[in-house]
Amino acid sequence: MNKRPSIFLFIWRFFVFFVGIFSLISCWTIAFFLTNYLYRHFHYHPSNYVRELMNFIIGLFILGIAVQFLEKMGGWRAKQIEFFHSMKKSFEQIANGNFNIRLESISPHSPFNELVESINRMAQELSEMEQLRQEFVSNVSHEIQSPLTSIIGFIHALKNDKLSAEQRARYLHIIETESKRLSKLSDNLLKLTSLESEHHPFEPKKYRLDQQLKNIVLACEPQWLEKAIDIDIVLDKTEIVADKDLLDQVWMNLLHNSIKFTPQKGKLSISVSQSGQKIQVAVSDTGIGMSEEEKMHMFERFYKADRSRNRSEGGNGLGLAIVKKIVSMHHGDIKVESTKGKGTTIFVSLPSGK
Ligand SMILES: Nc1ncnc2c1ncn2[C@@H]1O[C@H](COP(=O)(O)OP(=O)(O)OP(=O)(O)O)[C@@H](O)[C@H]1O
Ligand SMILES: [Mg+2]
Repeated sequence: MNKRPSIFLFIWRFFVFFVGIFSLISCWTIAFFLTNYLYRHFHYHPSNYVRELMNFIIGLFILGIAVQFLEKMGGWRAKQIEFFHSMKKSFEQIANGNFNIRLESISPHSPFNELVESINRMAQELSEMEQLRQEFVSNVSHEIQSPLTSIIGFIHALKNDKLSAEQRARYLHIIETESKRLSKLSDNLLKLTSLESEHHPFEPKKYRLDQQLKNIVLACEPQWLEKAIDIDIVLDKTEIVADKDLLDQVWMNLLHNSIKFTPQKGKLSISVSQSGQKIQVAVSDTGIGMSEEEKMHMFERFYKADRSRNRSEGGNGLGLAIVKKIVSMHHGDIKVESTKGKGTTIFVSLPSGK
């Protein structure tokens, strides 16, 4: 919080209070001399009670007139009405989904300044959220649209009776791949939404992390064998308290990426090390690597460094967003070292939780 405006506000309030007291005394003094003059002029001698009462009433009356006069002179009332009017208009705009508003304060020391600030902040945050929502919808639409276009195109082509058996098999294979991609998209979207909803079940329990990693490597065997990738695993016995199902997803996504972005006969290594309460898993490959720019965006939803390559490999750019969310749910950390054309290493640090 900025301290300067509150000090000014304090001084301003003190000043207003002082002016108020001074005005009251002045008005009462004027009333005192005015009533005294009138009593003398009309030779009237009222009791002390009536004198005080008259002084009080006339003093208040003069104060009222002075305040009205000052308000008119300074245009305060008009400014206040204008301010409330613009505030009402801003709320109406926000309710209609227009968040590009900027409310101006009446004066630098107005007591409404904090309210103005928070309304402007709220509008800005809503506007950022709306932008994210629009980007999300456009990304999802694009990710749905491109496989669908391809599926429809190849179904159309399959209607041709003159196709050879080989061509037919190739088209069917493309349709199958694109359908799987659509199914994976919906699966990943549901997963990400569920993870971000804070209601996703999180059930940490103690298990052997090294065994989990070995099982994942075995589960991916068909993929790495197909590309003749050499796998090197250095896994000491390591116990962790974590959500096993969620971490399955992390290692699976990282390993899939390494296999996907590593050319034939490449090398992949997985290691786990522990120092104190910190466990670090490193997944390393000799694949295409990433530039500094690509590294900056790789955890964003729907980010793919090479869209054309990803089309053939069938990714939606959600894998690492899921990884990052799961790692942060475990209070862990994820780091990347990568050199374009040489390879990538992803380090996932997790508390052992014991
Ligand atoms: N090991 C890696 N080597 C090179 N680039 C990588 C690697 N891992 C990730 N990337 C880059 O980061 C991008 C985002 O990765 P992410 O896993 O989120 O999406 P994806 O693999 O393209 O799709 P999905 O995981 O949804 O199938 C990738 O498209 C790729 O450009
Ligand atoms: Mg991926």
